[in-house]
Amino acid sequence: MKDHSLYNYKVVKQFSIMTVVWGIVGMLVGVLIAGQLVWPELNFGVPWLQFGRLRPLHTNAVIFAFGGSALMATSLYIVQRTCQVRLISDRLASFVFWGWQLVILLAAITLPFGITSGKEYAELEWPIDILITLVWVGYAVLFIGTIVKRNTKHIYVANWFFSAFIVAVAILHIFNSLAIPVSLYKSYSIYSGAIDAMVQWWYGHNAVGFFLTAGFLGMMYYFVPKQADRPIYSYRLSVVHFWALVAVYVWAGPHHLHYTSLPDWAQSLGMVMSLILLAPSWGGMINGVMTLSGAWDKLRTDPILKFLVVSLSFYGMSTFEGPMMSIKSVNALSHYTDWTIGHVHSGALGWVAMISIGSLYHLMPILYGRKQGEMYSERLIDLHFWLSTIGTVLYIASMWVNGLMQGLMWRAVNSDGTLTYSFIDSVEASFPGYVVRFIGGAIFLSGMLVMAYNVWKTAQLSKNKVEAKEVYS
Ligand code: HEM
Ligand code: HEM
Repeated sequence: MKDHSLYNYKVVKQFSIMTVVWGIVGMLVGVLIAGQLVWPELNFGVPWLQFGRLRPLHTNAVIFAFGGSALMATSLYIVQRTCQVRLISDRLASFVFWGWQLVILLAAITLPFGITSGKEYAELEWPIDILITLVWVGYAVLFIGTIVKRNTKHIYVANWFFSAFIVAVAILHIFNSLAIPVSLYKSYSIYSGAIDAMVQWWYGHNAVGFFLTAGFLGMMYYFVPKQADRPIYSYRLSVVHFWALVAVYVWAGPHHLHYTSLPDWAQSLGMVMSLILLAPSWGGMINGVMTLSGAWDKLRTDPILKFLVVSLSFYGMSTFEGPMMSIKSVNALSHYTDWTIGHVHSGALGWVAMISIGSLYHLMPILYGRKQGEMYSERLIDLHFWLSTIGTVLYIASMWVNGLMQGLMWRAVNSDGTLTYSFIDSVEASFPGYVVRFIGGAIFLSGMLVMAYNVWKTAQLSKNKVEAKEVYS
């Protein structure tokens, strides 16, 4: 039957549900590999359960399956609501949803089998890369086409951030994945040596900037004002934030390649641009947090708002830490250590996951015909909030301690110039931190299970409501 309602909520609902599903799957793999770093026997001697194969499965599942589905759900919802128009095509929307799920499924099969291009965050082999390109172009046409067809004069700032995310990711993916196939399962990058490294980290850093940041800022600019029931603190600041962020991010990639064969001037440029990046990042964070001016009391009672505001604090923290880690002398200490892993997860769990979860709690009830934020149980949202916060803090604090300790142990020298500690000494000393990280991860994951239950019950409530309506009308 053709759907004649004003907006296409079907695709938003599909992506929202899959966000929860892939969040659980991706984090479960994260907890498993965190466990393997404590108890190596957890790979059970099975090749496709080895750390080296499951690690890229984890990163792909959490970034592209969980994060990607959250971004697609919210962007396709926001663009319809703020442009007051239905998506340009239901068929294209279906293609984007099923195409993306197929990409994820293929990733989940090929990565454990060891089929990989070996490029971090771009491990998938060339046939899947082509499929990603097709689906992404479909997504771009769907999103930008809907903006073009809008019934409003203005393009709300959230849509700017989503558009930048979509266009930038298309360019990054295409250029970084250029390769010569030698079989169905194997290809070689067209770049080599230092140029390969440069292109890879131009991609890698901008994947952070545009996939893990710009899109989620789009979420922030819609859901924070909505949930707080206040206008955005400064619309002018949001425009400055947008242009400054997109102009500066693209230059910062070389901070991943300090002290390598990349020309020194390029490394220094990456460092300086990363330091400048602090300003737009914090400008955006302040704009989000200050939106609560005059509504701070709501934080006491509204667990969804707690998710959104705490995610902004983690965003502020990780975008302060990142520029510091870009300083060459600091990077000499942090690189190769668990400090980087702590930084990654303060962004990934604290910012990306928590803003997505908060946004979904706002959105899900609407998709099930209820009022915004009216989930089955508010107490369970509150419980989830605490599990997420405690899980994140345990994860990142343990990795900071481990990272600093590893960096200091590796550089410690005796008076005769020999190393004070062997590498294995540092591994042994890291053991307690790995246990704490495993516990923190498991706590965060348990919060996701609470969410799944709450979503399930909310769906049932709405089903019962519809059935009751049918009986009594
Ligand atoms: C239950 C939650 C999670 C747990 C237990 C977990 C655990 C892990 C572990 C053990 C690693 C490997 C660290 C190493 O090689 O030493 C890792 C890497 C990584 N995880 Fe997670 N993770 C979780 C959630 C997430 C989420 C939600 C995201 C993104 C949205 C994420 C993104 C990443 C990335 C990007 C890396 C690679 C970091 C690097 O190469 O520097 N993780 N995770
Ligand atoms: C102003 C913002 C930021 C700057 C300047 C920055 C800078 C850095 C630096 C210097 C590193 C370490 C590179 C190395 O030693 O190898 C790093 C790693 C990383 N950061 Fe950030 N960061 C920022 C924000 C974020 C945010 C918000 C996230 C996530 C949502 C994030 C995700 C990552 C990831 C995934 C890595 C690990 C890459 C890898 O080696 O696999 N960063 N970042």
